[in-house]
Order: sequence, then structure tokens, then C-alpha cells
Amino acid sequence: MQSELDDLYAVVRGVTRIPADWQTVVDALIPALAGKVPAAPVVLRQVPAPARGGDDRSHVLHVEPDGSYSVVALISRPGQATSIHDHTTWCVVAVVAGVECEERFRLTDDGRALFPMETRNDPPGTVSGFAPPGDIHRVTNAGTSVGISLHIYGTDICRIGNSVRRTYDLPIVPPGKKTRS
Ligand SMILES: [Fe+2]
Repeated sequence: MQSELDDLYAVVRGVTRIPADWQTVVDALIPALAGKVPAAPVVLRQVPAPARGGDDRSHVLHVEPDGSYSVVALISRPGQATSIHDHTTWCVVAVVAGVECEERFRLTDDGRALFPMETRNDPPGTVSGFAPPGDIHRVTNAGTSVGISLHIYGTDICRIGNSVRRTYDLPIVPPGKKTRS
């Protein structure tokens, strides 16, 4: 039986089979996946039972056989946050349950701090994405319940192990402070 996840994989397959730069892929996937975000139980069935209340790792749900994309589920507890990081490839995120806070940053000119660029609280059904460079971000479960999101990466996540390019343990510039001379 075709599941909602199979439908989502088919949409991603259809978009990624057309050769295009990363930003074009992301811009095509966001509207294509609107209304295709699966229900929470569909995703939870695919992760080990102990992880269903939230854990500190990602769960690979699907790797396309040709390695063109992977789909990972993140199950988080309220208040749980990722590191501040960026990626080696494009990423599209679909919020399945909870409220996911996404903060975006850029490096200051001297590279010694991070400047906050945008903060969004995304409810279930939200699809967003980015194409490196300039994709420094942190994701936090900003709700009061378990957060579930799907992260689609333009690579074979099992082959490369992790799509994170770098983590940033740097001070964050307070709002209103000047960062350019
Ligand atoms: Fe990320």
C-alpha cells in the first residue's frame, strides 16, 4: 500500500530528477510539498518506539537508490535545540507536529560572532528550505509537545554519514549592535 511517505518521496523524486542548481531545487520543492506533509503517526511508525517521545539523534527514513536525496525524521522534546550549524547540501524541512523555531544567522565580517538574521516559528504543515552557502541555522522545539519534522537533504546521508558542514560555537551579536564598520 502506498503511504503518505511514499507520496512525499515520489514528489521529491520528480523534482530532483530534473538537473538544476540547489536553490532552484529548493524553490521547486517547497510548493510541491505543500499539502503533502504526512500525519504524525505515519512518521512515528517509522522510528524506534523509545525515540517517539524525542531523542538526540536523527532517523533515516529513506535514501533514494541513486543517492540523489535522503529523508530524515527528527523527534524532539520541548525546548530541545540543535547546534548552530550549516550543511554540505540543500535541505528542505517539513514540520509534521509541534512548533519548530528556526533561527538563521550570518557570520560577522571578522568571522568571530554570529549575527541573527531571521527567526520563525513554524507550525505543522510548514515547508521551508535553504541552499548553501549562507544557511547557518539552529532549530528548536518551541512548543509544549513532542516536535516531529522531516528533513530532506540532497545527498546520500548514509554514505556521507552526516550532512552538517560545520557547527558554530560562537557568541551571538545582541539585537541592535553594529556588526559592520
Ligand atoms: Fe540543519
